[in-house]
Amino acid sequence: MSDRSAPTDHPVLPAIAARWSPRSYLPEAVDDATLRQVLEAGRWAASAYNEQPWAYLVGRKDADAAGHERILSCLVEFNQGWAKAAPVLMVACFRQNNAKGQPNRWAAYDAGQASSAMAIQAAALGLQLHQMAGFDAAKARAALALPDDVEPIAAMALGKPGPASALPEALAAREVAPRARKPAAEIVFGAGWGTAL
Ligand SMILES: Cc1cc2nc3c(=O)[nH]c(=O)nc-3n(C[C@H](O)[C@H](O)[C@H](O)COP(=O)(O)O)c2cc1C
Repeated sequence: MSDRSAPTDHPVLPAIAARWSPRSYLPEAVDDATLRQVLEAGRWAASAYNEQPWAYLVGRKDADAAGHERILSCLVEFNQGWAKAAPVLMVACFRQNNAKGQPNRWAAYDAGQASSAMAIQAAALGLQLHQMAGFDAAKARAALALPDDVEPIAAMALGKPGPASALPEALAAREVAPRARKPAAEIVFGAGWGTAL
């Protein structure tokens, strides 16, 4: 597997540069301690009012093949094509209401932070976590018995990245394409929209 480290403009933590979203995964299982380390990183994410509105449903191919298959069946066809190889599939959710039963406007933001922490932790451990919007939320709601106020927001694949050559041609090309980001000047401003920092 080629080095996919981000060509950052400024030095960042090694795990942040090492994180990327592979579509080729080795069949190797993620052992329980490592999986729980990844989930623990999410547990310690910041959240508005410390509501911790996130929840993760986990399907492990080695320990719970039916659960893995259940999550896989919720993905769109494109994602199923590559994600079936990943040893762990997850669905990230958030509770829409806070502890007082009022809508939590920051719940999706907080769940994203937890998932991001998990992705970085995974990279630090030599794994990669690939997040997916491409799944059927209604199907996930039914298949995973989600309570009414719980919203599935992303699916995820976790495991050790495999060789690009294991993928169909079009996906293999994307797997080794240069990593790119918008220039910082397009997304970072001074204290006025569009002004330079
Ligand atoms: C919320 C979210 C949804 C995504 N949905 C999909 C998806 O459905 N299928 C897919 O192959 N990749 C998906 N991705 C991966 C992105 O395409 C990827 O993060 C982006 O191209 C940047 O690449 P990098 O993560 O390797 O830096 C998603 C990523 C995020 C954060």
